[in-house]
Amino acid sequence: MTQFGRNTVPFADLDPDEVTRPDLNPYLLLHRQLGPPVLTAEEAKAYLGRWDAAFARPAPLHVEIGSGNGFFLSGMAAKHPERNWLGIEIRFKRVVLCAKKIKALGVGDNARIARYDAWWLEHILEPGVVAGLYVNHPDPWAKDSEAKKRLMSPFFAAWAASAMQVGAMIRLKSDHLPNIDALQAAIEGLPFALRGRVEDIEHNGTPWPAEDDVITNYQSKFIKRGLPVHALWVERI
Ligand SMILES: C[S@@+](CC[C@H](N)C(=O)[O-])C[C@H]1O[C@@H](n2cnc3c(N)ncnc32)[C@H](O)[C@@H]1O
Repeated sequence: MTQFGRNTVPFADLDPDEVTRPDLNPYLLLHRQLGPPVLTAEEAKAYLGRWDAAFARPAPLHVEIGSGNGFFLSGMAAKHPERNWLGIEIRFKRVVLCAKKIKALGVGDNARIARYDAWWLEHILEPGVVAGLYVNHPDPWAKDSEAKKRLMSPFFAAWAASAMQVGAMIRLKSDHLPNIDALQAAIEGLPFALRGRVEDIEHNGTPWPAEDDVITNYQSKFIKRGLPVHALWVERI
């Protein structure tokens, strides 16, 4: 099925017959061999309805989408050891890099990184399980012809309304203003309330407490280039 950006298969990442292919992405095999904090797509699916088991303890589940190299996920897991942190990342190499950050910061008890496609989250996260949702610099897909690939969409907002607990917050940071506008427009008519919107957070501050944040890899690139990063803060009501 193709619906917005949902045009890939969420679970199968490897046909057993392909293991010996010389052009196989080495990180595909590596991410399957690492074990926790890495979760393969199949392992993530197996935690549907029982995420406490992935961390061997009950705690509020905070989810970051598109974790990249893992600065934010590992940094926030260090700031909030009382929460369970789950990163979602589609690219195999970035999953492996993220796992290294988690290990380096010693947050392997409360952080997991799942190799998974964020367009299919309802297969791994049951309704009402998400206590906090974070999206940092989602891919811009800047051309009009690419608009349907943007994750910040009515489809995403409807999924978030179902997956999030009442009182949970979405925090979006983006260098691409259309992504901020898109999420703000998409929450209209859904059980969400806008709690803050700031353009150029480097100069105007984040809508949320500054100390409760971590600068991401992409964010630091934009700061270095003197380009603005924007933020949207939304509560599930
Ligand atoms: C522009 S990068 C930002 C990375 C990181 N959040 C940061 O701020 O430094 C976007 C990230 O989202 C990931 N991504 C893109 N589409 C995705 C999808 N459908 N599911 C999961 N991750 C995705 C990319 O692989 C990439 O790591």
